[in-house]
Amino acid sequence: MLIRLTYISTFNANITEADIDELTGKAAEFNKRHGISGILAVEGERVCQILEGPRPEVQTLFESIRRDPRHSGIVELDVSEIDQPHFEAWGMVRRPMVDIVTLAFSL
Ligand SMILES: Cc1cc2nc3c(=O)[nH]c(=O)nc-3n(C[C@H](O)[C@H](O)[C@H](O)COP(=O)(O)O)c2cc1C
Repeated sequence: MLIRLTYISTFNANITEADIDELTGKAAEFNKRHGISGILAVEGERVCQILEGPRPEVQTLFESIRRDPRHSGIVELDVSEIDQPHFEAWGMVRRPMVDIVTLAFSL
């Protein structure tokens, strides 16, 4: 069973672009190993991430993400069962926020 989970959060003010690049690189490696894929959009301090993959793997990862002290104000917007993943098996990539808005109307 595959799910797609979407949430928003706010990075702590001390997080730099270099921190975000490092986080995305590590996330991509972990996600690929666990059959998870997704996109991360960061605009200012606001974050939106969509994760797709097997339900247990995505839920376990989201529990870690929820506990991550680098951000706060985590709000789960949607969890849906999906037949087909929309994203390729790239693990995690960064995309402009407008791409997430566009996806929200097309998925
Ligand atoms: C906004 C945000 C998005 C994240 N996305 C992922 C992700 O997609 N995959 C991942 O492995 N870690 C991601 N992380 C990092 C995890 O929160 C966590 O550091 C990582 O799973 C290691 O967890 P652990 O220290 O409990 O082992 C993200 C962190 C933040 C703040």
